[in-house]
Amino acid sequence: MDEYHLDLNDPEFVSDPYPALAELRERLPVFYDPVWKKVFFARYDDIAALLRDRRLGRAILHVASRDELGWPPPDPLTPHFDRFQQDHMLDNEPPKHTRLRALVLKAFTPARVEGLAGAIERVVETLVDRLAARGGGDLLAEIAEPLPVTVIAELLGVPEADRPRLRPWSARIVKLYELGYTAEEAREANQAVVEFSDCIRALARERRARPRDDLISALVRAEERGDVLTEDELVANCILLLNAGHEATVNGMTLGALALHRHPAQMALAREAAARDDRAFFRAAVEELLRFDTPLPMFERWVLEDVEIAGVRLRRGTEVALLYASGNRDPRRFARPDDLDLRRADNPHLTFGLGIHYCIGAPLARLELQTAFRVLLRRLPGLRVAREPVEYTGGFVIRGHRALPVVW
Ligand code: HEM
Repeated sequence: MDEYHLDLNDPEFVSDPYPALAELRERLPVFYDPVWKKVFFARYDDIAALLRDRRLGRAILHVASRDELGWPPPDPLTPHFDRFQQDHMLDNEPPKHTRLRALVLKAFTPARVEGLAGAIERVVETLVDRLAARGGGDLLAEIAEPLPVTVIAELLGVPEADRPRLRPWSARIVKLYELGYTAEEAREANQAVVEFSDCIRALARERRARPRDDLISALVRAEERGDVLTEDELVANCILLLNAGHEATVNGMTLGALALHRHPAQMALAREAAARDDRAFFRAAVEELLRFDTPLPMFERWVLEDVEIAGVRLRRGTEVALLYASGNRDPRRFARPDDLDLRRADNPHLTFGLGIHYCIGAPLARLELQTAFRVLLRRLPGLRVAREPVEYTGGFVIRGHRALPVVW
């Protein structure tokens, strides 16, 4: 197999990975990276096939021991983080994944998401009111961050007093999903899991005594009906929902706003659609913004049994890295993939994944982003990015901006 090192932490690559991804897609669609020790895939069809293949999984320790895989012992700096990973759905495979996902879905129903539409609209209007009163500001700090954090906290039933701590906890935890982190970051993530878990555990106990109409109460009920959702699993999955529920949505919003700013003709279409409150337009537009600049550009899988794919033999225990952002720009699947086309009809992007781990929060993320762009452009039709270049947070795996200064 070809060998190549993709420097995922190179600031130039992080700020615009698409030219390098296009080159890989054409010249080196599958390669082994000896630094990351993973096999990378850059083409849509290969990524989609691997995501649907049950011989690969997000976890491997349920079928192989650390010794067999030649892994070192668990990191002594992250015992709480590791336990959290073992108990949430994203890092489990069937049968545990099936049980956890089904229990969470029982509480996180389409009706619960639809019921949030009015609340989301009100939160966006309030945030835009504040921004509008000033004439300029940071779209990230003033809208993109507070909206998803407020919505997911509201949905779960986290009280206002605890909410300011959620984003810092979450930001520390997700640092460990980047490739290459420091001992200090590991220690901080572990401590964040301890504090975050204590907060959710206390809330779950309170809701068990006095249930309310929120997701934590619904999860507590799922546990009490005799289904097996242990308290540790309940806590881990709530933390997962809180992290997953806003990290990517925040970045989806600022990446989307920057893409609109850089495509004035498309921005004009969006502005006109916002003026006539055209919700169907924003349904398609958000899909296109999520395809065009993918907030979570890469996910990994373990090979659970030997497989052959794209002419390459992958041995059990190999780790593969799937470049969703590259698949989303593959000309074999998308017509004119480098064009932003907010009316694109055929748009089966990989942004929410595929297969058994397909994003459980996709309907909520879509509703939030559709509402945010529609209301924002109706209220502030002259919205534009104040200056470029825009600074990125540093990581490729959870890719976003440090700030997005805007004026109108
Ligand atoms: C734009 C926003 C979002 C993006 C781009 C996104 C993307 C993804 C992707 C790609 C996966 C699958 C990971 C893989 O293939 O390995 C995933 C899984 C997941 N997402 Fe999202 N997500 C977003 C918003 C949300 C929200 C709002 C929530 C919760 C309210 C959420 C909760 C989850 C959960 C719990 C999983 C794990 C599902 C499983 O393992 O079965 N996500 N997300």
